[in-house]
Parts: sequence; C-alpha cells; structure tokens
Amino acid sequence: MTHRIALNFEDGVTRFIEARPDELVADAAYRLGLNIPMDCRDGACGTCKCHCESGRYTLGSFIDDAMTDEEAEQGYVLTCQMKAQSDCVINIPASSSLCKVKPSSLPATVAEIRQLSLSTIGFSLAVAGEPLSYLPGQYVNVSVPGTTQTRSYSFSSMSRDGAVEFLVRNIPGGLMSSYLAKRAAPGDGLTITGPVGSFYLREVKRPLLFLAGGTGLAPFLAMLDELKNIGSDQPIHMIYGVTSDADLVETDKLTAFAAQIAGFTYSTIVADPASGHDRKGYVTNHMPDAVLHGGDVDLYLCGPPPMVDAVRTHLAERGVVPKSFHFEKFSPSEGK
Ligand SMILES: Cc1cc2nc3c(=O)[nH]c(=O)nc-3n(C[C@H](O)[C@H](O)[C@H](O)COP(=O)(O)OP(=O)(O)OC[C@H]3O[C@@H](n4cnc5c(N)ncnc54)[C@H](O)[C@@H]3O)c2cc1C
Ligand code: FES
Repeated sequence: MTHRIALNFEDGVTRFIEARPDELVADAAYRLGLNIPMDCRDGACGTCKCHCESGRYTLGSFIDDAMTDEEAEQGYVLTCQMKAQSDCVINIPASSSLCKVKPSSLPATVAEIRQLSLSTIGFSLAVAGEPLSYLPGQYVNVSVPGTTQTRSYSFSSMSRDGAVEFLVRNIPGGLMSSYLAKRAAPGDGLTITGPVGSFYLREVKRPLLFLAGGTGLAPFLAMLDELKNIGSDQPIHMIYGVTSDADLVETDKLTAFAAQIAGFTYSTIVADPASGHDRKGYVTNHMPDAVLHGGDVDLYLCGPPPMVDAVRTHLAERGVVPKSFHFEKFSPSEGK
C-alpha cells in the first residue's frame, strides 16, 4: 500500500509522489527524481522543514535546533524523518526549479465539446496513461491547437476514467475561445502542462463559503466533486454570480451536489438589470451574515479580477476576517 503525497512548491507547481507507510517522504521523493532541499538527512539541521497542510504522519526523531515541538504542533515536518500514514499535502518552501522539478507536460485528446450556453463552453480531455493527479481547484496550461500559445484553465471535475473537464467563457475573438467555438473536434491533440496553483480545497475543519464569478465556477465544481467523495460534516454554501442569464450554467450539477453532499447549499445571482432572475445584482449584495459565520469560515473566491477585488474590498469594509481566505483571479493571458 502507498499513500499519495502532493508536494506544493512555492511557485505553485505541484507534483505527486507515492510513499509507502514505512518509507521516509524524502526517500520517496528522491526515488521519483524530486530533490527536496536536504542537508543532514538526520533530523539535525532543519533544511528539509516543510509544512504539512493535511494528512496523518509520524514525525520521526529530530533535535530542537531542527524543529521545535511548537512547530511540530503547528504542522511542520522534517521530510527526511517523516513517514506518511495517509494521503498528505506538503508545502515545500522552495521553488520547483530549485528542486529540479518541471511541471509535467502530457499529451491529451479532445473528448467532448459542449456549448452550454451562448457564452459558455464545456470541454473534456482524455489523458492517456496513469490517471491525472491534481488537487481540487488547481489548473493546467492548455496549448491552443494550431498556435504556440497556451491558456490556463481550472479543472471543473476530478479525473474520471482518464477524462478531465473544463468550463470556458467564450470571449468573441479570443484565441482559445475561437478554437473551442469554431474548430475543435473530438480527437484533436493538444498538450497540458501542470497541475499548478495554490487555489485548492484544504482539509475541511469549519464552515466553507464558496464565491464564484462566471466561469470561476469551474474550480468549485472540482471541489464539490471531491467533497461528494470524501464527505463533509460542515455547512458549505456557494454564491454563484454571473453577468447575464446566458452565463448561468451547470446549475443541474449544483442541484445534484446539493442532494449528494450533506450541508451543501447554493444560490445564484444575475447582475443584468433586465434579467428575470429572483436575485439581481452582485455577489456582495447577497451575502448574508449567516454564511460568514462571524469569520469562523474558510472562504474560497474565484472569478474575473474585478469581481475578486470587489469581494475583497467588500469583506474588508464589513470588517470580516475569515479564518482562511483563498482566491484565484482568472486574469487574461499575456499571449504566451
Ligand atoms: C489561473 C487561471 C485559471 C483560469 N481558469 C479559467 C477557467 O477555468 N475558465 C475560463 O473561462 N477562463 C479561465 N482563465 C482565463 C483563461 O486562461 C483565458 O485568459 C481566457 O479563456 C481567454 O482566453 P482566449 O484565448 O479565449 O482569449 P485571448 O485571446 O487571451 O483574449 C482575447 C481578448 O479578450 C480579452 N480578455 C481575455 N479574458 C477576458 C475576460 N475574462 N473578460 C474580458 N476580456 C477578456 C483579452 O485581453 C484580449 O483582448 C484562467 C486564468 C488563470 C490565470
Ligand atoms: S535534512 Fe537536516 S533535518 Fe532533514
């Protein structure tokens, strides 16, 4: 039996390794060609100290100079001493390039393209080989067929039968948008590079609030997909805001998640004043105190940059400081 360890590097690159329960995490990483910063390998210098965000493990032996008991209580670990007793997520305080880790590039094939509405396209890719590993909420860089450019897209599902899904706003004239809307066909080949990103679901310890703007819904669909599998005993509320009625998609999936995940509820909001929707305006107009739990909440926020900035300003003005706050901006590409 092995445990799956996600190693998150400082620059957002994530690599997964498999470690046996009797194996040092550093050895498992080294076996797979990843060089975590290391010096004494003896629990004496502290060079390999990392923060373990989730999972169970044994700490091994070490001296106070390498890591204090207080640090150990806060979740710090020495990877040269630690052995995983469950799947773990470990943050490495170094960039992936320093550790000679490149995000992996994989060939993929377009499996399905779904025009979900006038403004939104869903597509799925089939990835050959081992099931693709990523944390729910992360993204990959996808090559635009026929060009040398890539665009970033958050996974909108967990990997299933070798296929992963995405949700894309159709921007008229946009490079990837035009490809997906006009030329894409099942069987097209492209390359994905990743997974990357620090916007991913942490261990659920308190109520969650998900705030999604437009196709910023994508990473939350992957998180809900994961929550459906692992279960949760906390209240989880999503507020999903869009510009116009056509942007409101995948609500059937959200309704299904509400039936499958205990404690999950959601509401939708449309900004367009001409919409016939029940709740009009912005996400910030429809955020009751009840979903903020007096700040005892893990808040996840994803959408276009102006929406993310508006929510952050709104929370600051309201004096709400969530226990943890994670956000992702769907910033336009710089044409790479
Ligand atoms: C970490 C990350 C994750 C992302 N995940 C997703 C995702 O899951 N789904 C998704 O739809 N997008 C996502 N994006 C945005 C995505 O990477 C592209 O920027 C977007 O799809 C536009 O690509 P394009 O090739 O169609 O348009 P481009 O050819 O890049 O742009 C065409 C024109 O449209 C403008 N433009 C680009 N984006 C916008 C916008 N949002 N609003 C208005 N004008 C714009 C550009 O400045 C340019 O003038 C993500 C971005 C980041 C950084
Ligand atoms: S490498 Fe020195 S404590 Fe781990």
